[in-house]
Amino acid sequence: MDPATLETRFLQGRVALVTGASRGIGAAIAIQLARRGAKVACVATTAETARGTAEKCAALAEGARSYGCDVASTAAVAELVAEVQKEMGGLDVLVNNAGITRDQLLLRMSEEDFDRVLAVNLKGTWNFLKAAARPLMKSGGRIVNIASVVGITGNAGQANYAASKAGILGLTRSLAKELAGRSVTVNAIAPGFIATDMTAGLDEKAATELKSNIPLGRIGAPEEIAAAVDFLVGPGGAYVTGQTLVVDGGLSL
Ligand code: NAI
Repeated sequence: MDPATLETRFLQGRVALVTGASRGIGAAIAIQLARRGAKVACVATTAETARGTAEKCAALAEGARSYGCDVASTAAVAELVAEVQKEMGGLDVLVNNAGITRDQLLLRMSEEDFDRVLAVNLKGTWNFLKAAARPLMKSGGRIVNIASVVGITGNAGQANYAASKAGILGLTRSLAKELAGRSVTVNAIAPGFIATDMTAGLDEKAATELKSNIPLGRIGAPEEIAAAVDFLVGPGGAYVTGQTLVVDGGLSL
């Protein structure tokens, strides 16, 4: 392979696992990592829903596969990570992206909605960190956790979601300290408002108002979050750990 290709395909032959890869930000991240040469394990609630992304990844780099798993289940995640290593030959990059919202003002928020958002977003991230730490320590791998700018600023109607994302930031900083001795970097990305199915429900009026609060004057694209992941797992990110990269068009300024 010529040196220019080697430079752009810096994940050639490496295995990357991306959760929530069926659509939106996770799909954009999986595809970007495949562009860098990675064999991507695309994880979503069912293998079927992640298949489309895996096919797009396979067209860019051989070896992509789709997997289904509820990230909130510790046992299912442990089993899945073992399966990925066996079938794909190791694990070098982990991107914890799966997440849900169940928005409601505190007085109307049910215990179930609080627990489920914490279980998927925060515990789900921990489940993968726990299961993947050993193989990543072996490979000197990279970990990126997708948080949210709301985990820094808070947001009315999103107490459960904001708490889960703030938790991810604490988890990220702690594990950056724990795993640095094994050359594993652990970073978080805090996206602002990104155009995906998760945010598609917003009505015209609310979207216009939101845009007016974004200094760059527009909603972000999933590919713009994928570009930040690309930096953190690439050669330029080698000396960055424990950080939160805010990608929000200036929303949180
Ligand atoms: P999305 O709703 O389009 O996609 C979510 C993905 O997570 C899907 O692939 C879904 O299958 C997967 N998922 C959900 N629950 C799961 C579970 N229990 N087990 C396995 N997989 C599960 O969401 P979007 O917008 O692409 O968001 C991706 C991440 O980015 C989430 O963590 C979200 O909180 C975060 N984020 C999104 C922002 C936005 O404006 N869209 C802003 C800030 C953060």
